[in-house]
Amino acid sequence: MIMPSIVNTSLLCLIYISILPLSLCATKYQPNWDSIDSRPLPAWYDEAKFGIFMHWGVYSVPSFYSEWFWYRWKGAEPYPQVVEFMKENYPPGFTYADFARSFTAEFFDPAEWADIIKASGAKYYVLTSKHHEGYTNWPSNSSWNWNSVDVGPQRDLVGDLAAGVRNNTDIHFGLYYSLFEWFNPLFLKDKASGFTTTDYRDRVATPDLYDLVNRYKPEVIWTDGSGTAKSDYWKSTEFLAWLYNDSPVKNTVVTNDRWGDDCPCHHGGYYTCYDRYNPGVLQKHKFEDSMSVTKGGWGYAREKPLRSYHTVPQLLTTLIQVVSCGGNLLLNVGPTKDGRIMPIFEERLRQMGSWLKVNGEGIYSSRPWRKQNDTVNSNVWYTKSPKTEAVYAFLLEWPANNIVYLRDPRVTSTTTVAMLGHALPLKWTGAGGRGMNVTLPLLNPATMPCKWVWTLKLEGVK
Ligand SMILES: *[C@@H]1O[C@H](CO)[C@@H](O)[C@H](O)[C@H]1NC(C)=O
Ligand SMILES: *[C@@H]1O[C@H](CO)[C@@H](O)[C@H](O)[C@H]1NC(C)=O
Ligand SMILES: *[C@@H]1O[C@H](CO)[C@@H](O)[C@H](O)[C@H]1NC(C)=O
Ligand SMILES: *[C@@H]1O[C@H](CO)[C@@H](O)[C@H](O)[C@H]1NC(C)=O
Repeated sequence: MIMPSIVNTSLLCLIYISILPLSLCATKYQPNWDSIDSRPLPAWYDEAKFGIFMHWGVYSVPSFYSEWFWYRWKGAEPYPQVVEFMKENYPPGFTYADFARSFTAEFFDPAEWADIIKASGAKYYVLTSKHHEGYTNWPSNSSWNWNSVDVGPQRDLVGDLAAGVRNNTDIHFGLYYSLFEWFNPLFLKDKASGFTTTDYRDRVATPDLYDLVNRYKPEVIWTDGSGTAKSDYWKSTEFLAWLYNDSPVKNTVVTNDRWGDDCPCHHGGYYTCYDRYNPGVLQKHKFEDSMSVTKGGWGYAREKPLRSYHTVPQLLTTLIQVVSCGGNLLLNVGPTKDGRIMPIFEERLRQMGSWLKVNGEGIYSSRPWRKQNDTVNSNVWYTKSPKTEAVYAFLLEWPANNIVYLRDPRVTSTTTVAMLGHALPLKWTGAGGRGMNVTLPLLNPATMPCKWVWTLKLEGVK
């Protein structure tokens, strides 16, 4: 019998401990991609399926265009609308750093945010500890006067949220960290040297990563922004070997795949590949689709009209497609500079949670079925329960004649069909491998189990 490598290794370790120095066991993962990639993903992450992401930083002060505001204003290819916005609204000589003092966060209440996150049905949460602007939401030792304790909120936002989110919830707390910074002179110098010098990494990125893990014990490390450098410049495998062997979160932490230019979709923990990664077909490797409630950017942008906010059915469709194909959804909202989650974001998140309350049985801890979407009915996606073998069919649309045709389930003499949140079994017809027609219950708005996307639970199908 072939045992998973983790079992082998720990059994070997038990033997080693009795005859060899303990250090052999402590160095289970080596600082190279073969070894790092061999680590099994801690099970909680796949079971979680749904997380909330937040982009919060100095860009939340202008709250215009996106979190890329500074770069689109002062970077290599400025965007006219951002340059124009500054000309019209700020005096000459105003710098990006001048925004930081208006990052006031006076309404910020971590308990309230935690309540919204919990109500969304999410099982994990990822906060930007630092975006490409370099401003840190914790008192990073490498950040002089460009962090949330020295300027702006004058509080440790990461620490306050870690405590708030973990208080009375089972939500896993995670941190996003941008490896590079657009304008950090140390980084620009290393880049100009073709990454033969490593001052920025040694003085900023590496110490920050260790500091974040030791201080806040995040269970997700979501790195981003390779700045065109490869993972050997970032010493990513060294950090990950420490994270997996010796860190305080070595048993539960999960990481993504953005550890250098050579990594996305190839190395690390789960794959994010590119933003809004929704492949639509079953994936071999665990993946995450990170997307925002707003189309486009991630940080709060005041000028966005209603049409640039995804609707709940759109968000649920993505969640279901992603989970059917083996992935997780990490859904972003951008808080305001004064520490609020705008009511439209709050409503979206609470609506996701109200849906998951009824239909979560087919989402959390589910597994991909043999079909991800129905061969004939393009409005139907599937998951299955690993325990009961029940198949869940998610109906993105309610069929006009109340009868839904499912091509792929093979019915048997024991087949039963129910709608989650509705008590009575449903009538169906069909035979063998030609699929089935399910008659949906006659419901009115008051008896609907949910307002969007209904779930059929099929038992005794093949
Ligand atoms: C902070 O930085 C200083 C100087 O760079 C260093 O001596 C000190 O050990 C650092 N502290 C932590 C907690 O990393
Ligand atoms: C934890 O939650 C309780 C209420 O459930 C609240 O009274 C307390 O202040 C919270 N603590 C923190 C650190 O948020
Ligand atoms: C669904 O499945 C069919 C084949 O069964 C495929 O052609 C189609 O592209 C799939 N994806 C979507 C998004 O409908
Ligand atoms: C489903 O209903 C359609 C339309 O009445 C019919 O043509 C088809 O044979 C039915 N299929 C099954 C499997 O019951």
